[in-house]
Amino acid sequence: MLFFLDSADIKEIEELLAFGIVDGITTNPSLFAAIGGDFYKIAKDICSAVDGPVSLEASSTDYNNMLQEGEKILGIADNAVLKLPMTWPGIKACKYFSDKGHRVNMTLCFSAAQALVAAKAGATYVSPFIGRIDDTGHDGLNLIEDINEIYMNYPELNTKILAASIRNIYHLHQVCKIGTSIATIPAKIMKQLLDHPLTDIGVKKFSEDWKKSGLKI
Ligand code: G3P
Repeated sequence: MLFFLDSADIKEIEELLAFGIVDGITTNPSLFAAIGGDFYKIAKDICSAVDGPVSLEASSTDYNNMLQEGEKILGIADNAVLKLPMTWPGIKACKYFSDKGHRVNMTLCFSAAQALVAAKAGATYVSPFIGRIDDTGHDGLNLIEDINEIYMNYPELNTKILAASIRNIYHLHQVCKIGTSIATIPAKIMKQLLDHPLTDIGVKKFSEDWKKSGLKI
């Protein structure tokens, strides 16, 4: 199970990389917009900071511009992964880049049919958005289950499910039970992974007992 960090903030990325549990990074145009600055420079810095794959999304919506932008994004670094939207131009561009041996992450996936088309087009990753489905009053985790079941039926499809729009620890817990290959997690949720009051109480008690005993390290 791989953990990707969903962030375009280099400070946040470096802070969490230091714990050794981040296997890759995902970004999107909204995350970059929140940071501001030069997209290509920041993207390069992120790619240099991380050993694993870094998904960088094309902002173009038409095929020809996606190809131009895609070439630039993939040229940033060897670990750059091109993120494309789940549209027909996106699928066509996915096929184009996948056939050339590049890794493509098909994003904004909201149905099993979309995930199937992405796999047929050679996507390395498909990103179903759990939280955004929940926001519409449906269960985003059902989609992860459906895609996982369909992909398991066809072992020749090599696309990995990259569970995205994870909004809480329960989402992460459930996608791990379903068995997705990767979850991309926002920093706020990743930092909550160790939260447990009994751990805090235990650490405090052990520390107090040690101090009282007069024992030395
Ligand atoms: O990077 C895509 C994704 O994880 C979006 O999450 O919370 O904006 O729906 P969210």
